[in-house]
Amino acid sequence: MANKSVILRIKRQPNPAAKAHWEEFELAYKPNMNVTSCLMEIAANPVTREGKATTPITYDSNCLEEVCGSCAMLINGRARMACSALIDHLEQPIRLEPFSKFPIVRDLATDRSVIFENLKAVKAWVPVDGTYDLGPGPRMTQEEQEGAYPLSRCISCTCCMEACPQFNEETGFVGAATISQVRLFNTHPTGKALKRERLAALMGDGGIQECGYAQNCVEVCPKDIPLTKAIAEVGGEVMKQAFVDLFRR
Ligand code: SF4
Ligand code: SF4
Ligand code: FES
Repeated sequence: MANKSVILRIKRQPNPAAKAHWEEFELAYKPNMNVTSCLMEIAANPVTREGKATTPITYDSNCLEEVCGSCAMLINGRARMACSALIDHLEQPIRLEPFSKFPIVRDLATDRSVIFENLKAVKAWVPVDGTYDLGPGPRMTQEEQEGAYPLSRCISCTCCMEACPQFNEETGFVGAATISQVRLFNTHPTGKALKRERLAALMGDGGIQECGYAQNCVEVCPKDIPLTKAIAEVGGEVMKQAFVDLFRR
């Protein structure tokens, strides 16, 4: 039997201004390989399938266990994490491309810091003064914990933003992850102190109204976060808040 191999077609771009091109690599198959382990092998021996010496592929990674959110890229056209993309489950040749909605840094690495700017804009945190001991916080019921836990699993990978047809420069849409974090912190017993400010940040251009409920986000989320449910719940809260604000004026 012929030895099995793994073929990867990788989109390369040496810098943000350069023209992109493709390179193909062939690796010897080993059990349990994933996309990141293939990229590590290429880095150890950066030679294309045609035998031409090249440079190692630039990509982001850290935890290698689908927790840090850094290794997101397009794998066979789908937004997903490289570290959990098993070669055995991928059609070959495996196509690797950088995300298309974020500025390129180099090769497969993109600048996805916009998600952190969006999270800052909606104050996605629990406001506590950590300079002195406040004692224990309010207790959360089992039901509240079960509602919050799935939302707390977000790893800021931006897969939901890449897949969303509404996430683009024209709309300035904040994206599903940010909205789901508004839901998480607005239902937290201490976090809800900033509820009104969070909802206000989602009103108007780029806010929740941009969502067209296409549901691409929920399909690609590696953490199975109930994004469309969170968007619907926050959408209702934003409408209620806008109505209340109208009569406050
Ligand atoms: S439901 Fe559709 S439009 Fe709304 S955030 Fe998800 S992918 Fe985007
Ligand atoms: S909601 Fe899901 S897809 Fe979006 S950033 Fe969080 S983990 Fe990633
Ligand atoms: S390396 Fe952390 S999620 Fe893939």
